[in-house]
Amino acid sequence: MKEYYLVATIVAALFGIVSLLAFSRWSSMSRSNSSPHSSKRHSARRLEDKQQSTFSVDKESDFPIDWFTSSEIFALETRAIFCKSWIFLAHSSRFAKPGDYHTFSFSNYSVFLIMGKDRKIRAFHNVCRHRAYSITKKESGSSTVLGCKYHGWSYNTKGHLVKAPMFDGVAGFKKDENSLFEIETRVSGSGAVWINLDTEFSNQNLNDNEGDFEPFLDLKTQSSRWVEGGTVESGFNWKKAVNPKLFNVGWPKVSTFSAFNLLKNDPIETSGIHVFPNAIIYKIPGTKIWYSVILLPSSPGKTQIRYDIYSGSAKPQPSIEAAITRQIEEVISTKTKDLEYSSFLIHTKTDKILDNQYDILLSMKSHSRIEKTLGRQVSPVLQKSKTSQKFLQAEILCKQLDCLGQGIAEDSTKGMEVLAW
Ligand code: FES
Repeated sequence: MKEYYLVATIVAALFGIVSLLAFSRWSSMSRSNSSPHSSKRHSARRLEDKQQSTFSVDKESDFPIDWFTSSEIFALETRAIFCKSWIFLAHSSRFAKPGDYHTFSFSNYSVFLIMGKDRKIRAFHNVCRHRAYSITKKESGSSTVLGCKYHGWSYNTKGHLVKAPMFDGVAGFKKDENSLFEIETRVSGSGAVWINLDTEFSNQNLNDNEGDFEPFLDLKTQSSRWVEGGTVESGFNWKKAVNPKLFNVGWPKVSTFSAFNLLKNDPIETSGIHVFPNAIIYKIPGTKIWYSVILLPSSPGKTQIRYDIYSGSAKPQPSIEAAITRQIEEVISTKTKDLEYSSFLIHTKTDKILDNQYDILLSMKSHSRIEKTLGRQVSPVLQKSKTSQKFLQAEILCKQLDCLGQGIAEDSTKGMEVLAW
């Protein structure tokens, strides 16, 4: 009997071992089988995300060889992206008092942001309603009355025409029909200031962009304080710099990051995110300091780099802020030289195409399809065919005054497109 139990026990143990081996093999097979399937599903989803209707972009060859150099591509990205997207330009802390303004030029447009007496930030085309001269000449300044230097027309911070010398008393001329051209502007709850040049689709939702960078910073940016900023002229295509790693200062060399702190925690590097289409937001770890880099294209081979450094702390920390500012400026200067140098080289398919550029390409393809369908170029900001009657009326009056020899300068609008409002 004892022998019987011994044999039965051995058989049961062997059976158990065999079962365990079989289960282990089955489970490893199912693991190895599930991985490629889930990966494929993931890839498929990513591709679907990118497809947006019928476009398929999944390989570098979709990018034209003159992606960084062509003036046609520059013109298309102006129409497809800069005339239609919400563009992040500044944080509201750059505006301390009514009349503070900042001018930006990109994609052949000049615009300015100004804080009104009601402390609301508005954006306008930097174009006088008389003969399209620039209203603001400086990059930044402060004035509650914006006078055009050419013939003295003046506007208030809401863009209303308040003075038009020589036009007072002219029959048919109305000041309230000659306000500056206002641009759709949103200031998010976190204080980010966005504009949209598009006059046809101005009700576009801003949430997608707006939600992008405050969670990334892990900081309530509403109370941010502007620390420092500047603009650097550079000689490369803006799309080359749409890379959150590019102007990243790495681990900042400032006094607060002591050896003790480094021993206590692994150093965390500065990180950045791309905010479509042309901005990158960076956060400096261990501080409340963050900075934005905005790429403002002037031509296929020229870009203005606007950088602004902000602090989430109300109390200034002069030495730390100065050290970080120096470091950011050094990085921008060095990387700009690198990109300018590489821009002299002939562009080939081997030029590195960054992931963020797929989004740019998709927007351009989508717009291009609309243009092909309509059989014409679509620029949501400028439409020659809808030249404002009010503008023409003012222009005729002006020419009459010219004929009377009242010293009005040569027509500066020759060859210019007229904004359609
Ligand atoms: S007053 Fe501005 S262009 Fe004449």
